[in-house]
Amino acid sequence: MRERGDAIVLVGFMGVGKSSVGVELCRRTGLRAFDTDAIVVAKMNSSIAEIFDRLGAETFREEETEALRGIPHGRHVIITGGGSVLRAENLELMRALGVIVWLQADAEAIFRRVAHRDHRPLLRGGDPRLKIRELLEARENFYRDAAEIVIDTSRRTPAEVAQAILEQVPTLLGESASHAG
Ligand code: S3P
Repeated sequence: MRERGDAIVLVGFMGVGKSSVGVELCRRTGLRAFDTDAIVVAKMNSSIAEIFDRLGAETFREEETEALRGIPHGRHVIITGGGSVLRAENLELMRALGVIVWLQADAEAIFRRVAHRDHRPLLRGGDPRLKIRELLEARENFYRDAAEIVIDTSRRTPAEVAQAILEQVPTLLGESASHAG
């Protein structure tokens, strides 16, 4: 069996705080972050909205998988896009990279966090509250199946979430931390 890597892989719906928690984790641990959305944007030299509009969702998903393939194994923080769990290949890649942590939030908390931003193609147009609820329902099982650790972020700050992750994955703090278990 392939050995699991040492990274922490953050998954979860748009607006649950993956990026802010990732930044906080890096600040506390000194680890490097890899963000699949940012990798795709840099490679394509286009915003995610532009990629969806001009090249289509499937191209974005291909690039997202390619980004995961390109992340080296090691002790770092990996921030994924909200739809990354939908592809079986992505799950295999993420499991090989490290521990998958699902950042969860309720629909209302997500709405509050994304309402003032319009860069997410999947939430544009229509009633964003309804879209969030529908997409959450459609994806919940994918996140649940992917995750080894689940943390509800609805009423926690990114710092509190990062703290909760570090308590559950002490190896992130360094080689001196316990590797037992
Ligand atoms: C997506 C989430 C986005 C981005 C793209 C698609 C999704 O990332 O990858 O817009 O399918 O949920 P965030 O979760 O960082 O917003």
